[in-house]
Amino acid sequence: MPREIISIQAGQCGNAVGSSFWQTLCQEHGISPDGNLEAVEEGTDRKDVFFYQSDDTRYIPRAILLDLEPRVIHGIQTGPYKNIYNPENFHVPKHGSGAGNNWAAGFSAGETVYEEVMEMIEREADGSDSLEGFMLLHSIAGGTGSGLGSFLLERLNDRFPKKIIQTYSVFPDTQSVGDVVVQPYNSILAMRRLTENADSVVVLDNGALTRIAADRLHVQQPSFAQTNQLVSTVMSASTTTLRYPGYMHNDLVGIIASLIPTPRCHFLMTSYTPFTSDIVDQAKTVRKTTVLDVMRRLLQPKNRMVMTNTTKSSCYISILNIIQGEADPTDVHKSLLRIRERRLATFIPWGPASIQVALTKKSPHMPMSHRVSGLMLANHTSIATLFKRILGQYDRLRKRNAFLEQYKKEPIFANDLGEFDEARATVADLIAEYEAAESADYLNPSPEKGAEQS
Ligand code: GTP
Repeated sequence: MPREIISIQAGQCGNAVGSSFWQTLCQEHGISPDGNLEAVEEGTDRKDVFFYQSDDTRYIPRAILLDLEPRVIHGIQTGPYKNIYNPENFHVPKHGSGAGNNWAAGFSAGETVYEEVMEMIEREADGSDSLEGFMLLHSIAGGTGSGLGSFLLERLNDRFPKKIIQTYSVFPDTQSVGDVVVQPYNSILAMRRLTENADSVVVLDNGALTRIAADRLHVQQPSFAQTNQLVSTVMSASTTTLRYPGYMHNDLVGIIASLIPTPRCHFLMTSYTPFTSDIVDQAKTVRKTTVLDVMRRLLQPKNRMVMTNTTKSSCYISILNIIQGEADPTDVHKSLLRIRERRLATFIPWGPASIQVALTKKSPHMPMSHRVSGLMLANHTSIATLFKRILGQYDRLRKRNAFLEQYKKEPIFANDLGEFDEARATVADLIAEYEAAESADYLNPSPEKGAEQS
Protein backbone atom coordinates (compact mmCIF):
# COMPACT_ATOMS: atom_id res chain seq x y z
CA MET A 1 0.00 0.00 0.00
CA PRO A 2 1.45 3.38 -0.90
CA ARG A 3 2.16 5.77 1.96
CA GLU A 4 1.29 8.94 0.11
CA ILE A 5 2.86 12.33 0.76
CA ILE A 6 1.22 15.62 -0.17
CA SER A 7 3.63 18.46 -0.82
CA ILE A 8 2.74 22.08 -0.20
CA GLN A 9 4.98 24.77 -1.66
CA ALA A 10 4.59 28.34 -0.46
CA GLY A 11 6.14 31.63 -1.52
CA GLN A 12 8.79 32.48 -4.10
CA CYS A 13 11.48 30.17 -2.77
CA GLY A 14 9.10 27.30 -1.96
CA ASN A 15 7.66 27.33 -5.46
CA ALA A 16 11.00 27.69 -7.21
CA VAL A 17 12.50 24.84 -5.20
CA GLY A 18 9.34 22.77 -5.61
CA SER A 19 9.27 23.24 -9.36
CA SER A 20 12.86 22.02 -9.60
CA PHE A 21 12.05 19.04 -7.32
CA TRP A 22 9.07 17.92 -9.43
CA GLN A 23 11.13 18.19 -12.59
CA THR A 24 13.79 15.91 -11.06
CA LEU A 25 11.17 13.43 -9.85
CA CYS A 26 9.55 13.27 -13.29
CA GLN A 27 12.94 12.63 -14.92
CA GLU A 28 13.83 9.93 -12.42
CA HIS A 29 10.54 8.07 -12.91
CA GLY A 30 10.49 8.44 -16.69
CA ILE A 31 7.48 10.75 -16.66
CA SER A 32 7.25 13.27 -19.51
CA PRO A 33 6.47 16.97 -18.87
CA ASP A 34 2.87 16.15 -19.82
CA GLY A 35 2.62 13.38 -17.27
CA ASN A 36 2.88 10.44 -19.65
CA LEU A 37 5.11 7.48 -18.97
CA GLU A 38 8.03 7.67 -21.40
CA ALA A 39 9.27 4.13 -20.92
CA VAL A 40 7.93 1.16 -19.06
CA GLU A 41 10.24 0.53 -16.18
CA GLU A 42 11.29 -2.87 -15.08
CA GLY A 43 11.36 -3.24 -11.36
CA THR A 44 9.52 -1.68 -8.56
CA ASP A 45 9.60 2.05 -8.28
CA ARG A 46 6.73 3.48 -6.28
CA LYS A 47 5.46 6.46 -8.23
CA ASP A 48 2.26 6.61 -6.24
CA VAL A 49 3.90 8.06 -3.11
CA PHE A 50 4.26 11.41 -4.87
CA PHE A 51 1.99 11.07 -7.94
CA TYR A 52 -1.49 9.81 -8.74
CA GLN A 53 -2.94 8.88 -12.10
CA SER A 54 -5.68 10.80 -13.84
CA ASP A 55 -8.51 9.10 -15.76
CA ASP A 56 -6.40 9.26 -18.91
CA THR A 57 -3.50 7.60 -16.93
CA ARG A 58 -1.30 10.68 -16.83
CA TYR A 59 0.76 11.11 -13.67
CA ILE A 60 -0.12 14.14 -11.56
CA PRO A 61 1.96 15.36 -8.60
CA ARG A 62 0.27 15.43 -5.18
CA ALA A 63 1.35 19.07 -5.02
CA ILE A 64 -0.32 22.25 -3.82
CA LEU A 65 1.21 25.53 -4.97
CA LEU A 66 0.54 28.70 -2.98
CA ASP A 67 1.75 32.25 -3.30
CA LEU A 68 0.55 35.77 -2.56
CA GLU A 69 2.12 37.22 -5.71
CA PRO A 70 1.78 35.75 -9.20
CA ARG A 71 5.30 35.93 -10.67
CA VAL A 72 6.86 32.57 -9.77
CA ILE A 73 3.68 30.52 -10.11
CA HIS A 74 2.95 32.25 -13.40
CA GLY A 75 6.38 31.06 -14.57
CA ILE A 76 5.44 27.49 -13.58
CA GLN A 77 2.08 27.78 -15.33
CA THR A 78 3.75 28.81 -18.57
CA GLY A 79 6.90 26.67 -18.28
CA PRO A 80 7.72 23.26 -19.75
CA TYR A 81 6.02 21.35 -16.91
CA LYS A 82 2.86 23.49 -16.96
CA ASN A 83 0.59 20.55 -17.77
CA ILE A 84 1.81 18.24 -15.05
CA TYR A 85 0.08 19.95 -12.12
CA ASN A 86 -3.60 19.73 -11.21
CA PRO A 87 -4.92 23.20 -12.19
CA GLU A 88 -7.24 23.13 -9.16
CA ASN A 89 -4.23 23.03 -6.84
CA PHE A 90 -2.94 26.55 -7.40
CA HIS A 91 -3.73 29.40 -5.08
CA VAL A 92 -2.36 32.61 -6.50
CA PRO A 93 -3.86 36.08 -6.84
CA LYS A 94 -3.99 37.64 -10.33
CA HIS A 95 -2.29 40.71 -8.94
CA GLY A 96 -0.82 41.21 -5.53
CA SER A 97 2.62 42.00 -4.24
CA GLY A 98 3.16 39.17 -1.80
CA ALA A 99 3.54 39.54 1.92
CA GLY A 100 6.19 42.28 1.64
CA ASN A 101 8.79 40.22 3.50
CA ASN A 102 6.60 40.44 6.57
CA TRP A 103 5.93 37.19 8.44
CA ALA A 104 2.87 38.72 10.11
CA ALA A 105 1.29 39.67 6.76
CA GLY A 106 1.81 36.11 5.49
CA PHE A 107 0.34 34.70 8.71
CA SER A 108 -2.73 37.00 8.46
CA ALA A 109 -3.23 35.99 4.83
CA GLY A 110 -3.53 32.45 6.14
CA GLU A 111 -6.93 33.25 7.67
CA THR A 112 -8.17 34.63 4.35
CA VAL A 113 -7.04 31.73 2.18
CA TYR A 114 -7.63 29.00 4.77
CA GLU A 115 -10.97 27.64 3.49
CA GLU A 116 -9.81 27.43 -0.10
CA VAL A 117 -6.44 25.89 0.70
CA MET A 118 -7.87 23.42 3.19
CA GLU A 119 -10.32 22.26 0.56
CA MET A 120 -7.41 21.46 -1.76
CA ILE A 121 -5.58 19.63 1.02
CA GLU A 122 -8.69 17.64 2.04
CA ARG A 123 -9.35 16.70 -1.59
CA GLU A 124 -5.81 15.40 -1.98
CA ALA A 125 -6.01 13.61 1.38
CA ASP A 126 -9.31 11.95 0.38
CA GLY A 127 -7.68 10.82 -2.87
CA SER A 128 -4.98 8.91 -0.98
CA ASP A 129 -5.32 5.30 0.21
CA SER A 130 -3.07 5.63 3.20
CA LEU A 131 -1.80 9.17 3.58
CA GLU A 132 1.47 9.29 5.47
CA GLY A 133 1.85 13.03 5.75
CA PHE A 134 2.83 16.38 4.34
CA MET A 135 5.95 18.02 3.04
CA LEU A 136 6.18 21.83 3.24
CA LEU A 137 8.69 23.57 0.96
CA HIS A 138 9.40 27.20 1.86
CA SER A 139 11.96 29.76 2.97
CA ILE A 140 11.79 31.17 6.49
CA ALA A 141 13.24 34.63 5.76
CA GLY A 142 10.48 36.27 3.69
CA GLY A 143 6.76 36.82 4.31
CA THR A 144 4.71 34.22 2.46
CA GLY A 145 6.67 30.96 2.82
CA SER A 146 7.57 31.95 6.37
CA GLY A 147 4.26 33.43 7.65
CA LEU A 148 1.69 31.54 5.59
CA GLY A 149 3.87 28.45 6.02
CA SER A 150 3.74 28.91 9.83
CA PHE A 151 -0.03 29.32 9.74
CA LEU A 152 -0.43 26.13 7.73
CA LEU A 153 1.89 24.16 10.00
CA GLU A 154 -0.33 25.05 12.98
CA ARG A 155 -3.55 24.20 11.15
CA LEU A 156 -2.25 20.98 9.61
CA ASN A 157 -1.26 19.83 13.06
CA ASP A 158 -4.77 20.51 14.38
CA ARG A 159 -6.57 19.01 11.41
CA PHE A 160 -4.32 15.94 10.85
CA PRO A 161 -2.79 15.25 14.26
CA LYS A 162 -1.65 11.74 13.35
CA LYS A 163 0.06 12.59 10.07
CA ILE A 164 3.74 13.32 9.74
CA ILE A 165 4.78 16.86 8.85
CA GLN A 166 8.19 17.23 7.29
CA THR A 167 9.54 20.49 5.97
CA TYR A 168 12.37 21.44 3.65
CA SER A 169 13.13 24.87 5.03
CA VAL A 170 15.52 27.27 3.33
CA PHE A 171 17.32 29.32 5.99
CA PRO A 172 18.82 32.72 5.10
CA ASP A 173 22.53 33.27 4.61
CA THR A 174 23.50 34.48 8.09
CA GLN A 175 27.04 35.40 7.03
CA SER A 176 26.02 38.15 4.64
CA VAL A 177 23.80 41.19 5.11
CA GLY A 178 21.05 39.39 3.25
CA ASP A 179 18.45 40.55 0.80
CA VAL A 180 15.79 40.91 3.49
CA VAL A 181 16.70 43.26 6.33
CA VAL A 182 14.03 41.86 8.66
CA GLN A 183 15.00 38.24 7.96
CA PRO A 184 15.96 37.59 11.63
CA TYR A 185 12.42 38.57 12.74
CA ASN A 186 10.75 36.36 10.15
CA SER A 187 13.14 33.49 10.82
CA ILE A 188 12.63 33.47 14.59
CA LEU A 189 8.82 33.65 14.22
CA ALA A 190 8.84 30.75 11.73
CA MET A 191 11.29 28.70 13.78
CA ARG A 192 8.80 28.60 16.62
CA ARG A 193 6.32 26.75 14.35
CA LEU A 194 9.03 24.53 12.95
CA THR A 195 9.91 23.56 16.51
CA GLU A 196 6.37 23.12 17.77
CA ASN A 197 4.43 21.91 14.75
CA ALA A 198 6.77 19.91 12.50
CA ASP A 199 8.00 16.37 13.07
CA SER A 200 11.14 16.84 11.04
CA VAL A 201 12.82 19.84 9.41
CA VAL A 202 15.48 19.47 6.75
CA VAL A 203 17.53 22.67 7.07
CA LEU A 204 18.95 24.06 3.83
CA ASP A 205 21.13 27.06 4.49
CA ASN A 206 21.48 29.55 1.64
CA GLY A 207 24.96 30.49 2.93
CA ALA A 208 26.16 26.91 2.65
CA LEU A 209 24.43 26.41 -0.71
CA THR A 210 26.26 29.43 -2.13
CA ARG A 211 29.58 28.16 -0.77
CA ILE A 212 29.03 24.67 -2.17
CA ALA A 213 28.08 26.08 -5.56
CA ALA A 214 31.35 28.05 -5.54
CA ASP A 215 33.52 25.13 -4.36
CA ARG A 216 31.91 22.24 -6.21
CA LEU A 217 30.27 23.79 -9.25
CA HIS A 218 32.82 26.62 -9.62
CA VAL A 219 30.13 29.30 -9.82
CA GLN A 220 31.08 32.31 -7.70
CA GLN A 221 27.69 34.01 -7.66
CA PRO A 222 25.21 31.24 -8.21
CA SER A 223 21.72 32.04 -9.42
CA PHE A 224 18.74 30.65 -7.54
CA ALA A 225 18.26 28.25 -10.45
CA GLN A 226 21.70 26.81 -9.69
CA THR A 227 21.28 26.57 -5.91
CA ASN A 228 17.86 25.06 -6.45
CA GLN A 229 19.49 22.37 -8.55
CA LEU A 230 21.51 21.45 -5.43
CA VAL A 231 18.36 21.52 -3.31
CA SER A 232 16.34 19.34 -5.66
CA THR A 233 19.21 16.81 -5.86
CA VAL A 234 19.16 16.61 -2.07
CA MET A 235 15.37 16.37 -1.94
CA SER A 236 15.19 13.64 -4.53
CA ALA A 237 18.03 11.67 -2.89
CA SER A 238 16.40 11.97 0.53
CA THR A 239 13.18 10.49 -0.84
CA THR A 240 14.75 7.61 -2.82
CA THR A 241 14.14 5.07 -0.06
CA LEU A 242 10.43 5.98 -0.25
CA ARG A 243 10.30 5.81 -4.05
CA TYR A 244 12.53 2.75 -4.56
CA PRO A 245 11.70 0.92 -1.36
CA GLY A 246 13.81 -1.75 0.28
CA TYR A 247 13.29 -3.42 3.63
CA MET A 248 14.01 -0.42 5.79
CA HIS A 249 13.53 3.35 5.75
CA ASN A 250 10.74 2.88 3.22
CA ASP A 251 8.37 5.32 4.85
CA LEU A 252 8.76 8.72 6.50
CA VAL A 253 8.00 7.32 9.94
CA GLY A 254 10.87 4.85 9.57
CA ILE A 255 13.31 7.56 8.53
CA ILE A 256 12.26 9.92 11.30
CA ALA A 257 12.31 7.20 13.94
CA SER A 258 15.88 6.31 13.05
CA LEU A 259 17.12 9.91 13.05
CA ILE A 260 15.16 11.67 15.78
CA PRO A 261 15.41 9.95 19.17
CA THR A 262 14.02 12.91 21.13
CA PRO A 263 11.18 14.90 19.58
CA ARG A 264 12.50 18.46 19.93
CA CYS A 265 15.84 17.79 18.29
CA HIS A 266 14.29 17.28 14.87
CA PHE A 267 16.35 19.66 12.72
CA LEU A 268 18.37 17.68 10.20
CA MET A 269 21.32 18.64 8.04
CA THR A 270 22.35 17.05 4.78
CA SER A 271 25.49 16.44 2.73
CA TYR A 272 25.63 15.12 -0.80
CA THR A 273 28.48 13.90 -2.96
CA PRO A 274 29.56 14.05 -5.71
CA PHE A 275 27.83 17.14 -7.06
CA THR A 276 28.22 17.58 -10.78
CA SER A 277 26.61 20.15 -12.98
CA ASP A 278 25.38 20.02 -16.53
CA ILE A 279 25.89 23.74 -16.79
CA VAL A 280 29.50 24.16 -15.75
CA ASP A 281 32.33 22.37 -17.52
CA GLN A 282 34.78 22.07 -14.61
CA ALA A 283 32.06 20.55 -12.48
CA LYS A 284 31.48 17.77 -14.96
CA THR A 285 34.75 16.06 -14.03
CA VAL A 286 34.05 12.66 -12.64
CA ARG A 287 36.27 11.39 -9.88
CA LYS A 288 36.75 7.83 -8.82
CA THR A 289 33.97 7.06 -6.41
CA THR A 290 33.94 4.15 -4.01
CA VAL A 291 31.63 3.59 -1.09
CA LEU A 292 34.42 4.56 1.32
CA ASP A 293 35.24 7.76 -0.65
CA VAL A 294 31.61 8.74 -0.63
CA MET A 295 31.02 7.99 3.05
CA ARG A 296 34.19 9.81 4.04
CA ARG A 297 33.29 12.90 2.00
CA LEU A 298 29.79 12.96 3.48
CA LEU A 299 31.35 13.44 6.91
CA GLN A 300 33.43 16.46 5.88
CA PRO A 301 31.94 19.70 7.25
CA LYS A 302 32.65 21.49 3.93
CA ASN A 303 30.07 19.26 2.23
CA ARG A 304 27.30 20.09 4.71
CA MET A 305 24.41 22.14 3.48
CA VAL A 306 24.37 24.10 6.73
CA MET A 307 27.09 26.50 7.91
CA THR A 308 27.84 25.54 11.48
CA ASN A 309 30.75 26.07 13.84
CA THR A 310 31.90 22.73 15.11
CA THR A 311 33.04 22.89 18.72
CA LYS A 312 34.94 20.30 20.79
CA SER A 313 31.74 18.99 22.31
CA SER A 314 29.52 18.98 19.22
CA CYS A 315 28.55 15.54 18.00
CA TYR A 316 26.22 13.50 15.86
CA ILE A 317 22.95 12.34 17.40
CA SER A 318 22.33 10.08 14.41
CA ILE A 319 23.32 9.54 10.78
CA LEU A 320 21.53 7.90 7.86
CA ASN A 321 23.53 7.52 4.67
CA ILE A 322 21.56 6.82 1.52
CA ILE A 323 23.98 5.30 -0.98
CA GLN A 324 23.01 4.95 -4.63
CA GLY A 325 24.75 3.04 -7.36
CA GLU A 326 27.19 0.16 -7.42
CA ALA A 327 27.54 -0.68 -3.77
CA ASP A 328 27.13 -3.92 -1.93
CA PRO A 329 26.78 -4.64 1.78
CA THR A 330 30.39 -5.89 2.03
CA ASP A 331 31.73 -2.51 0.79
CA VAL A 332 29.49 -0.76 3.29
CA HIS A 333 30.61 -2.95 6.16
CA LYS A 334 34.31 -2.38 5.36
CA SER A 335 33.79 1.36 5.03
CA LEU A 336 31.99 1.57 8.35
CA LEU A 337 34.86 -0.27 10.04
CA ARG A 338 37.38 2.10 8.51
CA ILE A 339 35.39 5.15 9.61
CA ARG A 340 35.17 3.79 13.14
CA GLU A 341 38.92 2.96 13.28
CA ARG A 342 39.81 6.45 12.14
CA ARG A 343 37.21 8.04 14.47
CA LEU A 344 35.85 10.16 11.66
CA ALA A 345 32.52 10.77 13.41
CA THR A 346 31.90 11.67 17.06
CA PHE A 347 28.56 10.58 18.46
CA ILE A 348 26.46 11.51 21.51
CA PRO A 349 27.56 9.83 24.70
CA TRP A 350 24.03 8.67 25.64
CA GLY A 351 22.96 6.60 22.66
CA PRO A 352 24.16 4.09 20.08
CA ALA A 353 27.02 5.38 17.94
CA SER A 354 26.13 4.07 14.56
CA ILE A 355 25.92 5.18 10.98
CA GLN A 356 22.87 3.64 9.37
CA VAL A 357 23.14 2.92 5.69
CA ALA A 358 20.41 2.39 3.12
CA LEU A 359 21.46 1.08 -0.29
CA THR A 360 19.13 2.18 -3.06
CA LYS A 361 18.77 1.79 -6.76
CA LYS A 362 19.66 4.53 -9.20
CA SER A 363 16.92 5.57 -11.56
CA PRO A 364 17.35 3.73 -14.88
CA HIS A 365 16.17 6.88 -16.67
CA MET A 366 19.04 9.08 -15.59
CA PRO A 367 22.53 8.97 -17.06
CA MET A 368 24.93 7.70 -14.43
CA SER A 369 28.15 9.69 -14.36
CA HIS A 370 29.63 8.10 -11.25
CA ARG A 371 29.56 4.62 -9.81
CA VAL A 372 28.41 5.62 -6.37
CA SER A 373 26.77 8.74 -4.95
CA GLY A 374 25.51 9.40 -1.48
CA LEU A 375 23.36 11.59 0.69
CA MET A 376 23.82 11.95 4.41
CA LEU A 377 20.87 12.94 6.57
CA ALA A 378 22.26 13.81 9.97
CA ASN A 379 21.11 15.07 13.31
CA HIS A 380 24.12 17.04 14.63
CA THR A 381 24.23 19.22 17.70
CA SER A 382 26.25 21.96 15.93
CA ILE A 383 23.07 23.01 14.13
CA ALA A 384 22.45 25.05 17.29
CA THR A 385 25.26 27.40 16.19
CA LEU A 386 23.21 28.42 13.16
CA PHE A 387 20.21 29.08 15.41
CA LYS A 388 22.44 31.11 17.74
CA ARG A 389 23.60 33.34 14.88
CA ILE A 390 19.98 34.01 13.89
CA LEU A 391 19.04 34.69 17.51
CA GLY A 392 21.97 37.14 17.88
CA GLN A 393 20.87 39.02 14.76
CA TYR A 394 17.28 39.06 16.02
CA ASP A 395 18.34 40.47 19.40
CA ARG A 396 20.33 43.26 17.75
CA LEU A 397 17.33 44.35 15.64
CA ARG A 398 14.86 44.02 18.48
CA LYS A 399 17.01 46.02 20.89
CA ARG A 400 16.67 48.96 18.53
CA ASN A 401 12.95 48.25 18.02
CA ALA A 402 13.78 48.49 14.33
CA PHE A 403 11.20 47.98 11.57
CA LEU A 404 8.35 46.99 13.91
CA GLU A 405 5.67 49.30 12.46
CA GLN A 406 4.73 46.95 9.62
CA TYR A 407 4.34 44.06 12.06
CA LYS A 408 2.13 46.06 14.44
CA LYS A 409 -0.36 46.62 11.62
CA GLU A 410 -1.25 42.91 11.60
CA PRO A 411 -3.80 41.41 14.01
CA ILE A 412 -1.35 39.03 15.67
CA PHE A 413 0.70 42.03 16.90
CA ALA A 414 -2.20 44.46 17.34
CA ASN A 415 -2.15 44.42 21.15
CA ASP A 416 1.44 43.62 21.99
CA LEU A 417 4.63 42.06 20.73
CA GLY A 418 4.23 38.94 22.89
CA GLU A 419 4.43 36.71 19.83
CA PHE A 420 8.04 37.84 19.29
CA ASP A 421 8.97 37.11 22.90
CA GLU A 422 7.39 33.66 22.87
CA ALA A 423 9.09 32.77 19.60
CA ARG A 424 12.44 33.97 20.94
CA ALA A 425 11.99 31.87 24.08
CA THR A 426 11.17 28.78 21.99
CA VAL A 427 14.32 29.19 19.89
CA ALA A 428 16.47 29.80 22.99
CA ASP A 429 15.06 26.59 24.52
CA LEU A 430 15.81 24.72 21.31
CA ILE A 431 19.45 25.85 21.42
CA ALA A 432 19.67 24.79 25.07
CA GLU A 433 18.17 21.39 24.18
CA TYR A 434 20.85 20.72 21.53
CA GLU A 435 23.57 21.82 23.93
CA ALA A 436 22.19 19.55 26.64
CA ALA A 437 22.17 16.67 24.14
CA GLU A 438 25.98 16.85 24.10
CA SER A 439 26.27 15.63 27.68
CA ALA A 440 26.14 12.05 28.91
CA ASP A 441 23.30 12.66 31.35
CA TYR A 442 20.98 14.23 28.77
CA LEU A 443 18.24 11.64 29.21
CA ASN A 444 18.59 11.50 32.99
CA PRO A 445 19.86 14.87 34.20
CA SER A 446 21.24 14.82 37.73
CA PRO A 447 18.82 16.45 40.24
CA GLU A 448 21.01 19.54 40.82
CA LYS A 449 21.35 20.14 37.10
CA GLY A 450 17.61 19.68 36.59
CA ALA A 451 16.96 22.26 39.31
CA GLU A 452 19.41 24.69 37.70
CA GLN A 453 17.69 24.37 34.37
CA SER A 454 14.13 24.78 35.62
P1 GTP B 1 7.12 37.53 0.21
O1 GTP B 1 8.08 37.85 -0.91
O2 GTP B 1 7.28 38.41 1.39
O3 GTP B 1 5.70 37.40 -0.22
O4 GTP B 1 7.52 36.08 0.78
P2 GTP B 1 8.19 34.84 0.03
O5 GTP B 1 7.99 33.65 0.89
O6 GTP B 1 7.74 34.74 -1.38
O7 GTP B 1 9.72 35.23 0.07
P3 GTP B 1 10.96 34.44 -0.47
O8 GTP B 1 10.63 33.00 -0.68
O9 GTP B 1 11.54 35.21 -1.61
O10 GTP B 1 11.93 34.51 0.79
C1 GTP B 1 13.09 35.29 0.87
C2 GTP B 1 14.26 34.40 1.23
O11 GTP B 1 14.26 33.27 0.37
C3 GTP B 1 15.59 35.07 1.04
O12 GTP B 1 16.48 34.58 2.05
C4 GTP B 1 16.03 34.61 -0.33
O13 GTP B 1 17.44 34.60 -0.43
C5 GTP B 1 15.46 33.21 -0.38
N1 GTP B 1 15.07 32.75 -1.72
C6 GTP B 1 14.14 33.30 -2.56
N2 GTP B 1 14.02 32.56 -3.68
C7 GTP B 1 14.87 31.51 -3.55
C8 GTP B 1 15.19 30.38 -4.38
O14 GTP B 1 14.65 30.18 -5.47
N3 GTP B 1 16.13 29.50 -3.90
C9 GTP B 1 16.75 29.68 -2.72
N4 GTP B 1 17.66 28.77 -2.33
N5 GTP B 1 16.46 30.72 -1.90
C10 GTP B 1 15.54 31.63 -2.32
